[in-house]
Amino acid sequence: MSENLSDHVAENRRYWDAMADQWVSLGEQSWEQEARWGEWQIPNTELPLLADDMHGQRAIELGCGTGYVSAWMRRRGASVYAIDNSDAQLATARRLSEQHRLDDIEWVHGNAETVARPDGSFDFAISEYGAAIWCEPAAWISEAHRLLRPGGDLVFLGNHPLAMVCSPIDGSLPATERLERSYFDLGRLDWRDAIDEPGGIEFNLPISSWIRLFHRIGFNIVDYTEIQAPESVTGTGSTVSADWAQRFPSEQVWHLHKR
Ligand SMILES: C[S@@+](CC[C@H](N)C(=O)[O-])C[C@H]1O[C@@H](n2cnc3c(N)ncnc32)[C@H](O)[C@@H]1O
Repeated sequence: MSENLSDHVAENRRYWDAMADQWVSLGEQSWEQEARWGEWQIPNTELPLLADDMHGQRAIELGCGTGYVSAWMRRRGASVYAIDNSDAQLATARRLSEQHRLDDIEWVHGNAETVARPDGSFDFAISEYGAAIWCEPAAWISEAHRLLRPGGDLVFLGNHPLAMVCSPIDGSLPATERLERSYFDLGRLDWRDAIDEPGGIEFNLPISSWIRLFHRIGFNIVDYTEIQAPESVTGTGSTVSADWAQRFPSEQVWHLHKR
């Protein structure tokens, strides 16, 4: 039976299936190491997105890619359900989970905006650059809310809206120090005609719109972090240079609590 995918979900599936092979070595490396977050690899001891002990917790990763966040949660004792829109990314995740003998993680091919699990199935939900940036915000945040039990937490990490505002309209990289597009018109960011790394449709919002969305859906905000790159990093990440990210926030983390 053919799936009826919305255009961004279909494009993002095509895009990620086509470039999954470029993410294998980063996945392998991340499966080997302790939890570290985002572009600048901030250790979980400094940016504690995962509790050290997750025994008894039912966790879901929304847009798991090669699955290393799921591995970190399973090693902390959580039971883990991991969904991704790309079969090719999941092939890497499945191979690495066998290699690391974490074969009881449930890997599921599907769209994080509509997950085939009952209401209240999870205590904790997380996304690092998965649903966090590739799914339509109202759709996936509502779905995460439905999937969590009351009192459950959602944590997600992705690009800071300022990094998107400073990203040139023609899709050239890296981000500049100019305001290249309208902050208030953030929403859908279609990179199919981008000069550098064409493909994929992302989403981001002005900070006030994120806050309004969380409250409307039924989340309280526990914490909000604007990540600053450490002084030790150099070079250029996927969107901005290290120098840029030492002076401006390139990434954001929301920690939400279901009312
Ligand atoms: C950059 S990876 C994120 C995983 C990992 N944390 C990382 O940073 O490599 C982005 C993943 O989001 C997945 N993705 C994109 N749209 C999705 C959707 N609608 N539902 C589930 N996963 C999605 C892609 O297939 C891809 O594997």
